[in-house]
Amino acid sequence: MMAFVNGRMLTEKKAVVPVTDRGFLYGDGVYETIRVYGGKPFLLQDHLRRLNNSMAGVKLAPPMSLIDIGRAIQKVVAVNKLTEAIVRVTVTRGSGPRGFGIDGCAKPTVVVVAWKFGGYPADQYRKGIVAAVVSVRRTDPQAVPADIKSNNCLNQILARMEATGLGAEEAILLTSGGQVSEGSSSNVFAVKGGAIITPKIDGSLLPGITREWVMRVAREAGFGVSEKKMSVSFLMEAEEVFMTNSVMEIMPVSRLIFNHGATRQELRMGPYMKTSGFVGPVTVELLVRYRESVRSFGRG
Ligand code: PDD
Repeated sequence: MMAFVNGRMLTEKKAVVPVTDRGFLYGDGVYETIRVYGGKPFLLQDHLRRLNNSMAGVKLAPPMSLIDIGRAIQKVVAVNKLTEAIVRVTVTRGSGPRGFGIDGCAKPTVVVVAWKFGGYPADQYRKGIVAAVVSVRRTDPQAVPADIKSNNCLNQILARMEATGLGAEEAILLTSGGQVSEGSSSNVFAVKGGAIITPKIDGSLLPGITREWVMRVAREAGFGVSEKKMSVSFLMEAEEVFMTNSVMEIMPVSRLIFNHGATRQELRMGPYMKTSGFVGPVTVELLVRYRESVRSFGRG
């Protein structure tokens, strides 16, 4: 794999950053993960806009224009002859004097890497995943706003570790106030009375680009869609639950585990095992429509 590092295309072996890079030392950087379909980065402009927002959120002056970052992404895809892939672009504050102060950090690091990826197996979408509402809370927005897509992912990693320990593939984190926030690397949706509900953007969750796209696809298909505060009991009573991100698109949740509260009580449920098999009909329809929208994207 050839990677883009600060303006140069380098082989994976040569694509390195200094051990004093603050991305490595402190997680002082931001990133985007973008899915590539048919050689084209999907919703590239939205990802670049969010990258810009993240950089502004940590006062990281972009070392190159967004247009040039976009070009670097296209170049990594083309040079590696990738058609179906995942691209990650990372911008860190680079190296500087020891310590947290940012004075003297003159040159941000920009890295673009890519992996071949044709999607998760179809069977995964038929079976769905297990998601666990974990006891690890989402970082409070007054500590680190979640709309900064930061390299510092320990909050999400701790949540995912807890979920894995519970036998789940993804974690669902609550806000410090106990409302449903988001997954460790995804957004959460619930279906109730045939309508689609997702937690509203309140600083505690990343404004997922797939989340936004899914809401649009769902509205175009005639579904009622709303963004609201979501309680745990609302999630427990949902007819269907699914999670979204750029990599997994729309992933059905076929079982929820609850591991929250002072007593760390665990409650297992399988809402649509009772009704319509493992995966709910609204989720199935949305996934079909999402994939159609990907195919027609950019065709005008
Ligand atoms: N993660 N919430 C969090 C905390 C995320 O890390 C992500 C994406 C999302 C979904 O965002 P989007 O729909 O724009 O992919 C929500 C990516 C996949 C990652 O960390 O690599």
